[in-house]
Amino acid sequence: MSTQEQYPLDVESIREDFPILGRKVGGDVTAPGEGPDHSTPLVYLDNAATSQTPTQVVDAIVDYYYGYNSNVHRGIHHLSQEASVAYEEAHDRVAEFVGASGGREEIVFTKNTTEAMNLVAYAWGLSELGPGDRVVLTEMEHHASLVTWQQIGKRTGAEVRYVRVDDEGRLDMDHARELIDESTRLVSAVHISNTLGTVNPVAELADVAHDAGAFIFVDGAQAVPTRPVDVEALDADFYAFSGHKMCGPTGIGVLYAKRHILEAMGPYLYGGEMIRKVTYEESTWEDLPWKFEAGTPPIAQGVGLRAAVDYLDEIGMENVRKHEELLAEYAYDRLAEYDDVEIYGPPGDDRGGLVAFNLDGVHAHDLSSILNDHGVAIRAGDHCTQPLHDKLGVAASTRASFYIYNEREEIDALIDAVDDARALFG
Ligand SMILES: Cc1ncc(COP(=O)(O)O)c(C=O)c1O
Repeated sequence: MSTQEQYPLDVESIREDFPILGRKVGGDVTAPGEGPDHSTPLVYLDNAATSQTPTQVVDAIVDYYYGYNSNVHRGIHHLSQEASVAYEEAHDRVAEFVGASGGREEIVFTKNTTEAMNLVAYAWGLSELGPGDRVVLTEMEHHASLVTWQQIGKRTGAEVRYVRVDDEGRLDMDHARELIDESTRLVSAVHISNTLGTVNPVAELADVAHDAGAFIFVDGAQAVPTRPVDVEALDADFYAFSGHKMCGPTGIGVLYAKRHILEAMGPYLYGGEMIRKVTYEESTWEDLPWKFEAGTPPIAQGVGLRAAVDYLDEIGMENVRKHEELLAEYAYDRLAEYDDVEIYGPPGDDRGGLVAFNLDGVHAHDLSSILNDHGVAIRAGDHCTQPLHDKLGVAASTRASFYIYNEREEIDALIDAVDDARALFG
């Protein structure tokens, strides 16, 4: 089969950084590390949900806990100062990674993409939106965006409209131009659809939004991990992503926003760390980004995210993009050989690194259970895009998603397992 030379990255050496890829699965599920002999090599194709974590990131977190674990911004003792410097520098490093020239002041650490979306919904949406205002989403939004703005719409009286997705799984940009009018205050669009794999023209959408006087929020949960992203080149007003999909730890996400917008916004959560002066009657707020990071922040996670960014930068995000595209195209082409497989989204050479599909006559959950018997970890369900699945006319789909350590042979294993399911279900 393929040689390593055919990959844009050194997959073999990357795999060595991820000990989990060497483990076996299968048999009864017990507490991790206990229980029966697992016999089937793991094929991990659920990266769009959560990617694996390299030793470099785990080591950075261990170094923090063993070496300088302490609360930030609260102490003048040595450990606290070290933790504060590391945590602040993590913001700068993330800013650099996504092209935010304003540095740490434009980077708010959140729990995940969902919380970043809610931060803007609560801190900006609740006070800025009202009857007569419009929020424009796309039909392919993740629930993180769809449910959030739908509910903010109900609370504020703002109207929520959706840009159509065409039969190929692309945004209907004529419809976008029609919907985004002078009543529109915000456009929220997913950069890469986690179900269709569609790479949306967010820079173009940003132009349309700005011409109408609206802000644009880009959900980059699937984009930042898988390709170079420059938030300023896209002219995004808000841009969000999650650490756990890009080799980082869980419990940390990022909200980028233009500095002048963050300055004008009130806080989202109140409490310690986000204040400057407090009396029994009044409080004033800390500088950016701390105004939006109330309470003890995710310090270890911030240190881990920084290590993840360093790790990905070392590989080169352009190489990551090429690898993702190569595997997506290979998976698409292999699945497309079968008449009884329906694939959702644009053609294989024009998508992010994931492929959602259904095998005729086999429910996605049954299929995923058979794949699991083969050690193949994929996702089955609605992938937090229920309305999009309704539009596709299916309740669920099976999604394989790829990352820097995946190889063509693993996609072959997926196809073999699908063959097995076909035979089993007749
Ligand atoms: C496109 C997209 N947006 C938002 C999210 C939500 O991310 P999180 O669960 O980390 O908040 C996901 C996660 O799957 C996603 O794929």
